[in-house]
Amino acid sequence: MSKAMQIERKMWSKHYTYDEWMEAQGIPIHKGYYIEDLRTLQLGWWEERQCNSAFIQLVGQEGVTSARVTEIPPAKTLPPVKFALDEIIYVVEGRGLTTIWSGEKRPKKSFEWQKHSMFLIPHNYVHRLSNMQGDKPVRLLHYSYMPLTLSGVRDPNFIFGNSYEGPDIQNEMDFYSEAKMVQQNTLDNSWGRRAFWYGNFFPDMRAWDKLDANVRRGAGGRSVYMQFPDSEMTCHMSVFDARLYKKAHRHGPGRVIVIPVGEGYSILWEEGKEKVAVPWHEASCFVPPNRWFHQHFNVGGEPARYLALHPPMQFHGHAEKVEDRAKDQIEYVNEDPWVRRKFEDELAKRGLTSLMPEQAYKDPNFEWSKGMGKQ
Ligand SMILES: [Fe+2]
Repeated sequence: MSKAMQIERKMWSKHYTYDEWMEAQGIPIHKGYYIEDLRTLQLGWWEERQCNSAFIQLVGQEGVTSARVTEIPPAKTLPPVKFALDEIIYVVEGRGLTTIWSGEKRPKKSFEWQKHSMFLIPHNYVHRLSNMQGDKPVRLLHYSYMPLTLSGVRDPNFIFGNSYEGPDIQNEMDFYSEAKMVQQNTLDNSWGRRAFWYGNFFPDMRAWDKLDANVRRGAGGRSVYMQFPDSEMTCHMSVFDARLYKKAHRHGPGRVIVIPVGEGYSILWEEGKEKVAVPWHEASCFVPPNRWFHQHFNVGGEPARYLALHPPMQFHGHAEKVEDRAKDQIEYVNEDPWVRRKFEDELAKRGLTSLMPEQAYKDPNFEWSKGMGKQ
């Protein structure tokens, strides 16, 4: 057992085995509520992985999810890593190649990616990451449920370098061909028929335009949900238009949000407590803490997108009943007037005005219709 894992555990401690492992790696750990820019985040040399890297441990991750940034120098390939868990990788910057395999006798699979791509490395696979450009570094965001796993099996050797190969899934589907759009009813039908995107590889999160209207949350928002084959990991991406803002809502912890494009801010707050403002633009990252309200504001001139990497469904935190759900969303008519004032002030600083319909602030049954809020 590694040195870090010999630390005696204290009853009721919220310092988890994952935290001990993370601290033992000797690379920076970034804390707080948000990372303003993953592209310029300070990294440190990680001898074991032969690259610069840093952990992201924001307040809202709460021992549920793990996030990390990796840099690959120009034209370099990192040593292979075998990881027992599914891992989502989002490309913050650069262009490169991933080669994956499971077992020495099985075929290797390689695929190329670019800035704003997202892909899943399946559990028990070995992966090797290369930078295909000779003049620029690559930056990647890695996301997994590793903290939970180490709470169950307190030994990192179980998840790194474990010799178990698992079934060969390469022939079960179009392995790493582009993800496909699928329509499916949600489990209880309360959210209606949802479009979701299914696959291991999502070529460009900034360009994807097959989105469904999400009328409940306001601001003319559209979204798409994503599922990966043979994985419980999911995520979604929402797009909403310039000079509008969405309704405040709350749910469970661990949801790492990264911005593919846009300019704006979000506010995060625990009911009755002070609000935390999080400015964002491309490559910003933040995590709403467990059951904290949060609200997203677009103060740029273009539609903004955010990609939310979900925790396991056990931590989803969305109420099941309609009446409970109402307590988890604040309609525009009921919001603190400060919210609207700040939004209009932020726009004014940029020489812009709000496109929020006046009716939204007056009519509790106001429904957003297509094209509303557009100039
Ligand atoms: Fe949310």
